[in-house]
Amino acid sequence: MTLQGKNILICISGGIAAYKITYLIRDFIKKGAEVQVLMTPSAEHFVSKLTLSTLSKKPVYSDFYSDNGTWNNHVELALWADVILMAPCTANTLAKMVNGMCDNLVLATYMSAKCPVFISPAMDLDMYQHPSTTQNLELAEDFGHQLIPAEFGELASGLSGQGRMAEPETISKIIEEFFSSNKTLTGKTVLITAGPTYEAIDPVRFIGNHSSGKMGFAIAEEAANRGAKVILISGPSAEIAKHQNIEIHRVTSAKEMFTKVFDYYDSVDIAIASAAVADYAPKEIAQEKIKKNDDSLTIELVKNPDILKTMGERKKKQFLVGFALETQNEEENAKGKLAKKNLDMIVLNSLRDDGAGFKGATNKIKILTRDSLTDYSLKSKKEVAKDLLNFVEEQMLK
Ligand code: C5P
Repeated sequence: MTLQGKNILICISGGIAAYKITYLIRDFIKKGAEVQVLMTPSAEHFVSKLTLSTLSKKPVYSDFYSDNGTWNNHVELALWADVILMAPCTANTLAKMVNGMCDNLVLATYMSAKCPVFISPAMDLDMYQHPSTTQNLELAEDFGHQLIPAEFGELASGLSGQGRMAEPETISKIIEEFFSSNKTLTGKTVLITAGPTYEAIDPVRFIGNHSSGKMGFAIAEEAANRGAKVILISGPSAEIAKHQNIEIHRVTSAKEMFTKVFDYYDSVDIAIASAAVADYAPKEIAQEKIKKNDDSLTIELVKNPDILKTMGERKKKQFLVGFALETQNEEENAKGKLAKKNLDMIVLNSLRDDGAGFKGATNKIKILTRDSLTDYSLKSKKEVAKDLLNFVEEQMLK
C-alpha cells in the first residue's frame, strides 16, 4: 500500500488517451490512495463519468455546478489534493494552464492548488512538436510542475511519433516515487555556487565564460527535493530556481560571489562549488566605454580570489565538493585540486567527452575522493545531480 493515505486529484482533458485513466485509477486505489477525478467538458466525450466515479468511488465533476444544484468548490478540491495529475493533458488545456485561463472547473482547481502538479501531455505528433506546445511545456516546468513526457508510438490519427500519453504504469511509478522519495537531507543546509562570473572591463564589456548554470541549478533542485535548505549563489544565468526551499542570491563578479558565499559558509553542512568562476579580472574597470583608437589594446588582469580554496581553508564541519573542468591530464589535475583546496570530493567533467560540460542538458562525470574514483555514464544533468548527492550522502555517513 505505497500510496496509503495520499489524496490524488486527476484532471482529465479531452483526448483519446482519457480511457487509459481508468487503469490508473484502479492502480492508485489498489495502492491505498484516495482518488478524485475532475474532467473538462470535452473529456466527457471520451470516457464516461459513470465508469470513472465507479472506479474512484467518488462523484466526478466537470462543471462548477452539479445537476443537484450544488457548487463544486474548486478551492476545496485543490487544497484536498496532495498531488494533481493532469492526464491526459491536451495542447488546449496546457496552453490555458500556462496563461492563467480558468474557464472550466479543471483549470480553476489547478490555479487554486498549492500542491505539486504532474503533467502528462497527449496529442498528435505535430501538435506536440509545435513551437507553442514546446514553449508551454517549458513554461509549465518553470512554474515548478513536473512533466511526464509523451511517448513515441502509434497515435490515434494513424500517424506515428511522439505524442502518446505515458503508459499508466509509467505515470503510477513516477507518482509512487514522488511519495516515497526520502527526505534524506532534511535539517541540512546546502550552499551551492552556480553559473559563470562576469568581470567588467568597462560599463559595456566583460570577461566571462560559457557556463549556463544548469548543473548547479539541477543540484540545488535535487537537494531541495531531498528536504535540504538550499542557498544558491549564482552568477549570470538564465536558469530559474523553482523549489521553495531554494534561497537564490544572484551575483555578477567573482568578488561578489566570494562575499556572498562567506556570508553563509560558516552555517552550512554541505558546500558544492559548481560555478565556473573567472580566474582573472581586469585590474581596473574603465569608467567610460573604451574607444577603439589604437590597433591593439592591453588589459591588465589580476587574479580573482579562489572561493573554493578559501572554503577549504576555513572548513570546519562542512562537507566540501569542488568541480574540475579539464582538457588534459584530467584525473591527475582533479586529484591535485582535491588536495590543494582541502576538498572531500571533486567532480570531474572533461571537455573531451561528447555531451559533457557547460551548455547542454547532459553531463558525464567522474567523482574522485582521496582514495576512490567512480566513473558515471552520460546522463541528464538532473540524473547527474542525483548521483552526486547520493555520493555525498554515502560519504557523510562513513
Ligand atoms: O582551480 P579551478 O578553477 O580549476 O577549480 C575549479 C573549482 O574551483 C570549481 O569547483 C570552482 O567552482 C572553484 N573555483 C572557485 N573560485 C575560483 C575559481 C574556481 O570557487 N576563483
